[in-house]
Amino acid sequence: MSNGKVLVTGGAGFIGSHTVVELAAAGYRPVIVDNLANSDRKVLAGIADLVGYEVPFYEVDCTDAAALDAVFRQEAPFAGIIHFAAYKAVGESVERPTAYFLNNIGSTAVLLEAMAAHPSGRLVFSSSCTVYGEPAHIPVDESAPIRPAESPYGYTKQACERLIGDQVAAAPGFRATLLRYFNPIGAHPSARIGELPIGRPNNLIPFLTQAVAGLREPLTVFGDDYPTPDGTCIRDYIHVVDLARAHVAALAAPDGDERLSVYNLGTGEGASVKEVVAAFEAATGRAVPHRMGPRRAGDVVAIYADAQKAERELGWRTERSLKEALADAWRWQEQLGR
Ligand code: UFG
Repeated sequence: MSNGKVLVTGGAGFIGSHTVVELAAAGYRPVIVDNLANSDRKVLAGIADLVGYEVPFYEVDCTDAAALDAVFRQEAPFAGIIHFAAYKAVGESVERPTAYFLNNIGSTAVLLEAMAAHPSGRLVFSSSCTVYGEPAHIPVDESAPIRPAESPYGYTKQACERLIGDQVAAAPGFRATLLRYFNPIGAHPSARIGELPIGRPNNLIPFLTQAVAGLREPLTVFGDDYPTPDGTCIRDYIHVVDLARAHVAALAAPDGDERLSVYNLGTGEGASVKEVVAAFEAATGRAVPHRMGPRRAGDVVAIYADAQKAERELGWRTERSLKEALADAWRWQEQLGR
């Protein structure tokens, strides 16, 4: 039995690859579009191992309207589309704002045009809690105001949310779900797929695991003088498999009255950087070499999700703990190092 074909842009990426695996497990037939700009062909082999067959793959850049249209002509109709393909590094976006605008906003506009021309089901869009900036209240729910973006990257997420909302208003049959991720971490427990940062990781967990593996200098904790219980910043770290399963739930959700829905995806619990270090050591038995350092520009102090709307309306909640996520991240790093 098949629940239908699902186009996954960025399906060779970190969250995309895990979502492809969960889609297949739920009886969907994923089709991957990825330009491999920030991923690797060997991810496709890992996916094939986990799902038991080779998932159709198109090496296509989503800003290339003709190439994307050719994929739709070949593969449509789709039961749904999940749009992950985007650049995602906050610091890089400050240095290359035009690249972020062209790629992230351009690909979304091109994809919406293709969807308007072919039977495509609903769009599930990969957004970020960065749209909230420093929230006035935590946990933050979906009604919290969108704040002026701190970075070009954050702006592209806001702009795409706006564009998708405008398209829902313009096209009567079109439905979309915006998923605002908190901090995705971990890897598939099989260690067949995981995160593949190119170069020096900016994010906490890939840097931490590389530091423990001896591939980097000790982790610098960016600031321990914040107004939090232990002085370090608080985030909501969500296991990538839990996050992937939320995409399946968003696709499978029955059509409601609203054609545009938005959900926070997080665990609902905050963890400080120091707590992450301690949880990693408890989960793996490995010491994390680290030192305290100055604050990083642009960091929000504390943010974690109120994810009750996703639980209520999508029947989804996280099932994996921070320690499991860190153990899985470490298992993935260990096999990468072999
Ligand atoms: N951190 C360190 N040392 C490091 C790296 C990170 O102490 O070497 C700290 C940061 O200061 C922060 C926490 O670890 O307190 C998490 O940092 P990440 O870079 O892993 O994640 P961010 O919360 O900064 O960024 C994430 C996503 C972005 C998104 C943002 C929204 O990576 O895509 O959340 O808040 F925009």
